[in-house]
Amino acid sequence: MKRSRKLLQSLLCLLLTGILLIGCQNGKKSDEPELLLGFSQIGSESAWRIGNTQDIEDQAENYGVSLMIENANQKQENQIAAIRRFIAYKVDVIAFSPIVEDGWDNVLTEAKEAGIPVVLVDRDISTEKEGLTTCLIGADFYQEGVMAAEYLIRKADSLGLDSVNIVEITGTENSTPMRQRQQGFADTIASDSRMHILERIDGDFLKSRGAECMRSLLDKHGDDIDVVYSHNDEMTLGAIPEIEKAGYKPGKDIIIISIDGGQEAIDVLKEGKINCVVECTPKLGKELMETAKKLKNGEEVDEVIHPTEVIFSDEQDLEKIAPRGY
Ligand code: AHR
Repeated sequence: MKRSRKLLQSLLCLLLTGILLIGCQNGKKSDEPELLLGFSQIGSESAWRIGNTQDIEDQAENYGVSLMIENANQKQENQIAAIRRFIAYKVDVIAFSPIVEDGWDNVLTEAKEAGIPVVLVDRDISTEKEGLTTCLIGADFYQEGVMAAEYLIRKADSLGLDSVNIVEITGTENSTPMRQRQQGFADTIASDSRMHILERIDGDFLKSRGAECMRSLLDKHGDDIDVVYSHNDEMTLGAIPEIEKAGYKPGKDIIIISIDGGQEAIDVLKEGKINCVVECTPKLGKELMETAKKLKNGEEVDEVIHPTEVIFSDEQDLEKIAPRGY
């Protein structure tokens, strides 16, 4: 009799735990209203971008957010069409990573008229109009350019260089990271008379373009190149084999500075073929879900949310770098 009562109690306990777990599944309380988030991603041009998409999907699941996600395959018109679909579908919140800064006024005015709040993820837009977006969640790209330049100044000091010729492989023309990484770097080297930019060339954040750009830079400037400053890991990883084919040792004959901090670049940094990688984290999903929830509840949100970022370089013990996860 005693045993069967105990068994009954244990069964009840299990049932109750099960109900509680279902009620709080994925961090979402059962009485919380559904949140439908439409997200337009730029494409899949880099390990960074793929990591960013994965993080947003994972965090949507964690937070119990229903996610409609569309990949624009590097085309602005696809992003505009996706945002129009999100409006027609009456999602609660729209988020997108604008491939370039200009050209969003019309579609964002449509979202505003439909009463749907818009969150910018990763990149910014340029507009004269007020109130088209609520919040920007993304890296401080200007500061990344500053960190890259500060590393270079320290490196030039440690090598005793009195003249430093730089080639810069830039990201997508008219995108926020391209503009700000260029500006932060340029402003920081401006006061150092040793630094000279030989050429800036558009690599569009792509590995194949990084290789093409590097071939052209080596053809034009050859031995004169002391430094490659590349706006992302993908282009850096495309450029390095071209430097080797031309008979130079990346990381030794030519100083290599990259941005992102994906695992592949960190491995190449450990091999000594990259000297410095400035981190740009793709892990923006948690902030996005929390912001979307606040917007749905009519709460205030921060206008700008920048994650904290660090640099990885040959100045530190590289074995201590934890796996990057992208
Ligand atoms: O906007 C962030 C940049 O876009 C990353 O540096 C790059 O890798 C990505 O494609």
